[in-house]
Amino acid sequence: MKIFLIGFMGCGKSTKAKQLANRLACEVVDLDAVMVAQEGKSIAEYFAEHGEAAFRKLEQETLKNYPYPETCVIATGGGLPCFFDNMEWMNANGKTIYLKMTPPQLVSRLHNREKRPLLKGMDDEQLLAFIETKLAERNTFYNQAQLVVNAFDLDIEELL
Ligand code: S3P
Repeated sequence: MKIFLIGFMGCGKSTKAKQLANRLACEVVDLDAVMVAQEGKSIAEYFAEHGEAAFRKLEQETLKNYPYPETCVIATGGGLPCFFDNMEWMNANGKTIYLKMTPPQLVSRLHNREKRPLLKGMDDEQLLAFIETKLAERNTFYNQAQLVVNAFDLDIEELL
């Protein structure tokens, strides 16, 4: 079984994927990290050199072509479910879990903004406004997940 963790930047997908994989004694796949290793550059560098449209294509190809082990937990990038048919594909090929948080909760967790090209240079007020708008758009996709959980203070045992 493949378990895809989805949700906005800062909701804890990578950390929760590691914890869940650890508890399930299976592998963890972090799709952003896969692209970084494969391209030999950070996501911020990739955006700066090739632009967002090229990144979204690469992201889709990586999602669909990665040689996943039979059982694994997959951390996805925050925008991945919202492009092409990625959400549909994940629902058809595994279990999807939306790690949901409110905009103020996300702001309180997004300290390292420089590594995230979409958030670069924003102060707290700008970030809150950006998240409110973006999350309203993205929730249409995120809410297609098979399981929606309140991810703030989420206990891994409860998630299991
Ligand atoms: C993005 C989220 C990032 C990364 C890229 C774009 C987004 O992943 O894929 O910077 O569009 O929300 P994280 O959610 O792991 O930060």
